[in-house]
Amino acid sequence: MSRALLLNFSPHGKAARAYRLAAEVLRDWPDIGTVIDRQLGGEPLSALTCDYATAVTSVAGMDNVAIHASERQIVELESSDLLVLCTPLHNFTLPAAMKLWIDQVVRIQRSFGVNSAGEKVGLLKDRPTFVLVSSGGFILGEQARQPDFLTPYLKAILSCIGIQQLTFIYLQGSVRGGEAIERGVMAAREALLRGLAGTVGRRSIAGDEACGSCLA
Ligand SMILES: Cc1cc2nc3c(=O)[nH]c(=O)nc-3n(C[C@H](O)[C@H](O)[C@H](O)COP(=O)(O)O)c2cc1C
Repeated sequence: MSRALLLNFSPHGKAARAYRLAAEVLRDWPDIGTVIDRQLGGEPLSALTCDYATAVTSVAGMDNVAIHASERQIVELESSDLLVLCTPLHNFTLPAAMKLWIDQVVRIQRSFGVNSAGEKVGLLKDRPTFVLVSSGGFILGEQARQPDFLTPYLKAILSCIGIQQLTFIYLQGSVRGGEAIERGVMAAREALLRGLAGTVGRRSIAGDEACGSCLA
């Protein structure tokens, strides 16, 4: 049984398409026991304080009360064996609410260390992680007319704390509305179902010839 952590960074909260899709799929997935659901877009974490910034850059930082909020986020992350991040693209990159979460979970000597060569080494266990990215325009394919700083940044920063099993799923072109959105949501649902089938468990997916016969 997997324990999933579902984090939504959209300011639209539970109305966000990517979140609704992820929540529905996780709810119906038989091998997932618990889903911890956090709305970090509608209710973002607090801005970093001077005490926190001082604590994480000082030797005695681990004892400082200022890191308690960060510790809560890291413990919650550690307790999950499946991670699902739902995020909009904001100004070519991740939304500020997601950056606040990153600034609290990426902490030296706690979620990453530094080896003798000066390289950062992740201290958290790797786990299947799905990132659902919603964007108004396109960032992939022939229609893309804008840069995507979100994908490479998330790969780098999550890898830094040990999370490398990443699958990105894009819901693009929301400004087009109507049918285009529905097609995008259907494609994203299929990608998420296939990803889950390949990583956290067994479930038959209609039309999936590669897996259909071997799944319960
Ligand atoms: C502040 C802000 C910045 C945005 N910047 C971009 C952008 O750079 N590229 C893009 O394609 N869409 C951009 N959008 C549109 C959102 O990515 C799009 O509406 C998305 O579908 C919202 O997803 P959500 O409902 O999950 O929040 C931006 C929206 C906002 C509010």
